[in-house]
Amino acid sequence: MKRKTKPLAIIGDPVQHSLSPSMQNAALRECGLDYRYEKILVRPEELDRFMKKKAIQLAGFNVTVPHKEKILPHLDFVVPLARSIGAVNTVWNHRGMLIGFNTDGNGYLMSLEQEKRFKVPQSQILILGAGGAARSLVVSLHLAGASKIVLANRTLGRAQRLAGSLKKKFSKLRLQACSLTGPDFPKNLKQTDLLINTTTVGLNGTAFPNFPWKALRSGATVSDIVYHPRMTPLLKSAQQHGHPVHTGEGMLVYQGALSFEIWTGRAPSAKTMLKVLRKKLS
Ligand code: ATR
Repeated sequence: MKRKTKPLAIIGDPVQHSLSPSMQNAALRECGLDYRYEKILVRPEELDRFMKKKAIQLAGFNVTVPHKEKILPHLDFVVPLARSIGAVNTVWNHRGMLIGFNTDGNGYLMSLEQEKRFKVPQSQILILGAGGAARSLVVSLHLAGASKIVLANRTLGRAQRLAGSLKKKFSKLRLQACSLTGPDFPKNLKQTDLLINTTTVGLNGTAFPNFPWKALRSGATVSDIVYHPRMTPLLKSAQQHGHPVHTGEGMLVYQGALSFEIWTGRAPSAKTMLKVLRKKLS
């Protein structure tokens, strides 16, 4: 008797643009696994119904905006890392029990280690932005041993609120907030080993005007989680100023590879996933 193909998916709104189905289906095919990964548009008002009726029919799924935080109360169990981050990007249906994970931060760390051999323990890190992506990176970088993290954001109050809420969860976390315009920003850049852009600046080729490159520690790695364009204006400019750069596509690949492993128990080829991603983006 032929076994039924197991369904996987990504849910979100919008979801049409997602590159995950191409990446995941290529890796599933390569591993000879009988799964099929598709996109499911779930509007904000439909999440409740989706979780009650449809989620259980899937073997697992990825979660993207705007559901990453809202999905938590709908799950049977959320692993501590995802709970600390306050967001879930991966759900695994374990014998009818829906379990929430977050592979974004660890996907980022794996990409940084694999591609740049950057050592997070004892390093000082400055993150541009204070949204959901910044939050997941702070938690993972802290757990990986970063000695100090600075959140630099256009709206200082938002960075301060995020820093306050994370420091309540992690008593040993050394986390500071600063604005992009005050004197603290260049001061912090001087001590930075790794600069990460988590803002939407860079999408569609937008740039940070007058970035104070002279203030950044010489040799500091500059990383962008924006993956399209691959070389964002920030990365191009960093390269011109002699800094090693880390592009955003690796985080997308490794967060997907970690989700794949949770669902199937198999490790996919990150190389294959990256090849498909680049082909789709070109
Ligand atoms: P996500 O949750 O996906 O990480 P988000 O919540 O949409 O993203 O947050 C976007 C981030 O990009 C914020 O830190 C935002 O800064 P504000 O808090 O000041 O809004 C930042 N951002 C967006 N446009 C920006 C710009 N033109 N210059 C600087 N920062 C910008």
